[in-house]
Parts: sequence; C-alpha cells; structure tokens
Amino acid sequence: MNNNYDAQVKEAVAKFETLVRGQLERVERINAAADFVDYASLDKLIIGVCGGDGIGPVITNAAQTVLEKLLADKVAAGKVEFRIIDGLTIENRVAVNKAIPDDVLDELKKCHVILKGPTTTPRAGDPWPNIESANVAMRKELDLFANVRPVKVPEQGIDWTFFRENTEGSYAVGSNGQHITDDLAMDFCVTTTEGTNRIARLAFEFAKNNKKDRVSIITKANVIKTTDGKFLRICEEMSKEYPDITTDEWFIDILTAKLIDEKRRRDFKVFILPNLYGDIITDEAAEFQGGVGTAGSANIGKRYAMFEAIHGSAPRMMKEGRGIYADPCSMLRASVMLLNHVGFNAEADRLEKALDFCMYTDKKYTVTGRDTGATCETFVNYVIENL
Ligand code: IPM
Ligand code: MG
Repeated sequence: MNNNYDAQVKEAVAKFETLVRGQLERVERINAAADFVDYASLDKLIIGVCGGDGIGPVITNAAQTVLEKLLADKVAAGKVEFRIIDGLTIENRVAVNKAIPDDVLDELKKCHVILKGPTTTPRAGDPWPNIESANVAMRKELDLFANVRPVKVPEQGIDWTFFRENTEGSYAVGSNGQHITDDLAMDFCVTTTEGTNRIARLAFEFAKNNKKDRVSIITKANVIKTTDGKFLRICEEMSKEYPDITTDEWFIDILTAKLIDEKRRRDFKVFILPNLYGDIITDEAAEFQGGVGTAGSANIGKRYAMFEAIHGSAPRMMKEGRGIYADPCSMLRASVMLLNHVGFNAEADRLEKALDFCMYTDKKYTVTGRDTGATCETFVNYVIENL
C-alpha cells in the first residue's frame, strides 16, 4: 500500500466544507423563518397551476377544471385567482440545465399555493443530463418542509396520515454527493433541530386537532444513529407535550412489514418519518388504496404550499398513446388538500364526498390507465356531476 490520497482527501474536504457551510446557512434561514401565512387575511389568494410533463398536463387540467367550478364565486368576487405557469417541462429544464428554470421559479414565488402536475426526473441511462428532480428542487427552494400524504381504505379500517420530512435527510444534499475516487462515492444525510421540530409539531397538532390518538415515529435509529437518532429524540421529546396521544416508535423495516399485517395495520394513525423512509413507505401505503394514481399529497411550508400527485409523469403511458386514460384521482385528492389548507373547507368536503362516491360507492366509471376504463375527461365530468 503506497497509495497517497492526500490530493483526493484535500479535494473532498474542500467540497465537504462547502456542503457544511450551505447547511449551516440553511439552519439559520429556517430558524429565522416567519410563521405560517394566514390565508384568511389575504385580499386575494393566488393559485398557481403548473402542468408539468408526461400525463401531468392531462390530469392537472382536469383538477383545475374542478377547482374552477368549486371556486367560481370566489374568482368572480376577485378573492381567488388562478395563474397558469408554463415551462416546467423536461425540455425547458434541460435547455437551461436547471431543475426549475429561473423564470418559472419567479412565477411560482408570486403565488400562495401551487397545484403541480408530475414532472419527469432524469435517471441514469436517460438521454437527458442529470438535473435534479423538479419536485425535490421546488420543495427545497420554497422550503416546503412537510409532505403530508393521507391513505384511506374505509372497508379495511385503514386511515393513515404520513408526515414525511421533505427537505432534509438523504435528500438534503441531493446531487452534491461526492465521488472521492473512482472507487469511493459518498452521499450525506442531514438532520437539523428546527427541521425536525417543525415536522413533528405539524404532525402532533394534526393528530390533536383531528382526534387521532396515536402517533408513530419511524426511523432506523438503531443503525443510522446520528441523524435518525436526533430525529427520534426530538420527536419523543415533543410527544411529552401531548399526553393524550399515544406515541410509539418503530424501525422502518418492521413498520414496512406491519403495514401488510391486516390485523395490526388498522391501529396505525399518524406517522412522522425522515424523507427517504417517507418516500418509500407512502408508495406501499398508496398501493392498498388502489395505487399511486389515487394518492395526492400536500407539500407544506410556512410561506408556500404545493399540492401534487405522489406518482411520476408516466412517460410509458404517453409513449403508448394512453395519455387520455390517465387517472386524475391523485390530482383531485391533492386539490381536496389544497382547499382544506387555505380554509375552503366546505368546498373541500364537496369534492371529497364526490370523489369518494365516484371512486368507492357508485363506480359507474373507473379509470384503469387503458382503454379498458374511462378516459380522464369522462371521469372528471362524472365527478363534476356529483359535486
Ligand atoms: C415523490 C417522488 C419523488 C421523491 C421523486 C420523483 C424525486 O417519488 O414525490 O415521492 O423521491 O420525493
Ligand atoms: Mg416517491
């Protein structure tokens, strides 16, 4: 062994220093962030609509049509404005080599809440450069720290709400992991005090306000001791402020198993998890409800909030000409969350009831993603008829 790695070590340390400084600045920023926007006090609520690509525009337009119907009075009275934001497509993002083109980001920042269609994320082997995922970038840029993902299967007693931390963990450093040598690559995992406090607070307050008497904290703190350990400690500490709520703690591996245990899974109610575990487990959970196409999610920050499907842009569906059969339910569920988030609870209830009726009770039309089922348009008109 006469390898001398001094040069590589020096280069790695210099890059690491940049990462550490960036994260320390982020900590200062989030510690100083203003409190949540009070939507009721706004003269006009601006809802940005961003179609994305692949099946994105199909299902986003569908959701927008429904929202415009529900909010027609408020739009006429000048209390709500819909703003279409074009340009968050893979072609545009590749052209400027950015996860979100600057002009699109400027437009997004002029809105209060955003309805966003799926966007394509390049992966190894794709013809596109390795730009960061647009949703991950948007979550970071707009500091959307909580990814709230509900999953319900009433006939099986499943009623879960996942609070996935959305800006830290294994996602914090994103594409800035390091290839130290040809043989050694390293990624980084980040947990901060405020980053954990704010997601835990939102989850416990949600449980309290919605009469959910159990919160489960999910980590892998037996192995990922430093960052998951910190996450777990902070959540446990906060649980002491909520004596009426039973708080328990699970490791992600056994939790993944328990969610398919029909006798045990109905006992879970609210989950708090670091970013990556939240990503993985919410796809599993959505599968019980009918697949990721049926699941919406809220990305909540103090200044902005963004609502989206939990799935991707389905390039294969588009390639096979099945775009018109895309399932709008994920975006319609996301729309329910948007309405509730800004305080339009009556409109949210109308849409939720219509969706439950169409998806689970009446089932006159079902979307299968193929010509064996209804088109997106037929299904949306069916929902509108039942509002
Ligand atoms: C999600 C998605 C994204 C994520 C992808 C597209 C980067 O899977 O919203 O769950 O990993 O967060
Ligand atoms: Mg995911």
